[in-house]
Amino acid sequence: MTATKGLEGIVAAQSSISSIIDGVLTYRGYDIDDLAENATFEEVIYLLWHGKLPTQSELDQLIADLNANANVPAAVLDQIKTYPKNANSMAALRSAVSSLALYDEEANDMSAESNLRKAIKLQAQIPTLVAAFQRIRNGQEPIAPKGYSSIAANFLYQMTGKEPDKVAIEALDKALVLHADHELNASTFAARVTVATLTDIYSGITSAIGTLKGPLHGGANEAVMAMLEEIGTYENIEPYISGKLEKKEKIMGFGHRVYKNGDPRAKHLQKMSHELGKITGNMDWYNMSIKIEDMVTGQKGLKPNVDFYSASVYTALEIPRDLFTPIFAISRCSGWTAHILEQFADNRLIRPRAEYVGPTNQKYVPIDAR
Ligand code: ACO
Repeated sequence: MTATKGLEGIVAAQSSISSIIDGVLTYRGYDIDDLAENATFEEVIYLLWHGKLPTQSELDQLIADLNANANVPAAVLDQIKTYPKNANSMAALRSAVSSLALYDEEANDMSAESNLRKAIKLQAQIPTLVAAFQRIRNGQEPIAPKGYSSIAANFLYQMTGKEPDKVAIEALDKALVLHADHELNASTFAARVTVATLTDIYSGITSAIGTLKGPLHGGANEAVMAMLEEIGTYENIEPYISGKLEKKEKIMGFGHRVYKNGDPRAKHLQKMSHELGKITGNMDWYNMSIKIEDMVTGQKGLKPNVDFYSASVYTALEIPRDLFTPIFAISRCSGWTAHILEQFADNRLIRPRAEYVGPTNQKYVPIDAR
């Protein structure tokens, strides 16, 4: 038995939800470029869960269901009020999602109908939790969703208390489409491993959120913005990036385990970053990002991944830096739940083996003789 570090190249599950073949990402067979240009996030949620694009009435029903389920239990909001004001935003979301299970009477109902209902609840309530966390830590009361026809619009409204503008809604919606699913990424794998024990869907999503939090996965978008802020000016890019590369330190937002010739999602976010920069009149973050890309790709051959331009896009939308990864979770919840439903539909416990490399033939020594 020989282990492959990081399970690189190991095919660990069959799935009909999304694929990455020859660098092309598809959801249910639809190219991400096509979906990014044409689909709404709600259409993508339906597609991931049901394997087909919705008709108008199916889409209307999904939007109605999401709106009807978007309020979270008051007890969970009260709990968030007890979190430290400086709590890590992903730790807060992980705790709050775990708590949702306590107040859902059907949390442990394993029927397919119940699991689909809970997928709707999770998809509807995670944005409410993220917005509530943001308001509560700023001393504001959480706001109930307004019943807009998109999660993007409801979330922006719930976070700011203001009518969201059309450009912001469209940009966030597209970012949600781009992040919705990604084959057997680390957090999705964690979700599948968790529910393959036949535990409940809330446990699966809690595992996934904890996994997405890390800077080698979803946490990279926040780390990119931290890097841009640390660099500060265009002139500082050259010494900063060269210094990091010389020390063999990682540049956040670059590289990918699967894509070696570029992440197909990055170009859409780059375009959005450019357009939003023009609209807001601040091209600094975009221009800096382009220069960093030139250097990292030129010197290391590494291409930007989905997280790199997300940072300047979310900053242009005036979203606080530490909410970037929770927003990733809002989107990826659709993929996580789709994979959990797929896992439940044809389950087998996921239990691989380890290559043992520790000592052998040890003999127990009494404690006073050690
Ligand atoms: N900056 C500089 N060097 C890098 C980077 C980077 N961002 N990414 C990889 N490398 C280098 C490594 O140092 C290593 O070099 P070496 O062979 O000289 O030691 C080589 O490329 C291979 O890197 P690994 O970390 O082994 O590649 P792996 O496939 O395990 O990791 C990962 C992929 C985690 C995405 C990596 O590229 C990385 O850490 N990137 C930065 C974090 C990031 O942006 N994560 C988000 C990924 S997308 C997502 O999860 C949503």
